[in-house]
Amino acid sequence: MSEKITSQMAIEMEDKYGAHNYHPLPVVLSKGEGVFLWDAEGKRYYDFLSAYSAVNQGHCHPKIIKALVDQAKTLTLTSRAFYNDCLGPYEKYVTSYFGYDKVLPMNTGAEAVETAIKICRKWAYDVKGTPANEAKIIVCGGNFHGRTITIISMSTDPDARGGFGPYTPGFIVIPYNDIPALEKALQDPTVAGFLVEPIQGEAGVYVPEEGFLRKAYDLCKAKNVLFIADEVQTGIARTGKLLACDHEGVRPDMLILGKAISGGVFPVSVVLADDPIMMVIKPGQHGSTFGGNPIAAKVAIAALEVIKEEKLAERAEKLGKIFRDELKKIKSDMIELIRGKGLLNAIVIKPKNGKEAWDVCLKMAELGLLAKPTHQHIIRFAPPLVITEEQLYDAIEIIRKAILSFG
Ligand SMILES: Cc1ncc(COP(=O)(O)O)c(C=O)c1O
Repeated sequence: MSEKITSQMAIEMEDKYGAHNYHPLPVVLSKGEGVFLWDAEGKRYYDFLSAYSAVNQGHCHPKIIKALVDQAKTLTLTSRAFYNDCLGPYEKYVTSYFGYDKVLPMNTGAEAVETAIKICRKWAYDVKGTPANEAKIIVCGGNFHGRTITIISMSTDPDARGGFGPYTPGFIVIPYNDIPALEKALQDPTVAGFLVEPIQGEAGVYVPEEGFLRKAYDLCKAKNVLFIADEVQTGIARTGKLLACDHEGVRPDMLILGKAISGGVFPVSVVLADDPIMMVIKPGQHGSTFGGNPIAAKVAIAALEVIKEEKLAERAEKLGKIFRDELKKIKSDMIELIRGKGLLNAIVIKPKNGKEAWDVCLKMAELGLLAKPTHQHIIRFAPPLVITEEQLYDAIEIIRKAILSFG
């Protein structure tokens, strides 16, 4: 197909031939570099979504793309029926990077969450001694862990869950950021794990009270329950530390990562754990054709190297403070609340004269900045972490102008 695709054509084709499972902003992107995206007509935008925090290292990072291209020309996929010469070095690298004995490689975030659930249940039966088929996992209201049937079974979002039953049993839902509720739920001796996002990203960047993660971890330890952190969105420098759990010195028993572990270049996800947990999985009990493939292995190493080489956690910490401080200076009754950590932030929008978060996002796009509402009244702001201070101030000016344009 050599015909030039205009934005209009691209939108019409997606509408006609694609399932309508998303409601995108009407912008058609055709190029990315660093913090910028360009549409099919050549208009440039700041990317303040970063593909839901997958592109932390910036679009088309040269080092990550080189790793991708070099490996793509050499060996792409062997399956795990055989060994390959990329997986072992990657496993060694990623386990020492995050400080765990073992890694189980998968592709998407949802698959890694499913993997963690399976490992947790198996651990309950093989190690903890939970009676067969009785293991339960505590999750939090407002969670977002992906889109599979088991994952939406533990969701409280009617859009994510409604109409897809019957649901997978074995989950206890408690309110987020509620230590007494967790304490109570942990009384059930069949509870094997507590699965939690250190900050709830999709729910609208809900940051729990300081100390929540630490207290939750300690309660889990006291009951021999696995503390499982879903850092698919918060992980890898986004919140100003390598992991959001690092803010409270918590080392999860199981750590789930995806998205930015590949810099948004390739679907790569992992579950990390120590031997007494990970070794409950035996050959044939879990796997994925593409999980741990040679390209993924090389891309993930490059992406993780970039995080350290470019000090992206430190940048997120410093620039995040500037971002929130500057947003707080915008005087508009449309801004109900500003919250976040590092460069994962959100504005809660109070509708004005019928104008909502969606309208603010359209205005920002017109002015050259892309962000997307989550849950109607919340706009998440998560630029690539390679953004410079100067670019950040420039972007803040666009956000200010867009909000003030509604009076
Ligand atoms: C915390 C969290 N977990 C899991 C997922 C699912 O990841 P994926 O879309 O790669 O399946 C997401 C995606 O937004 C997420 O934010």
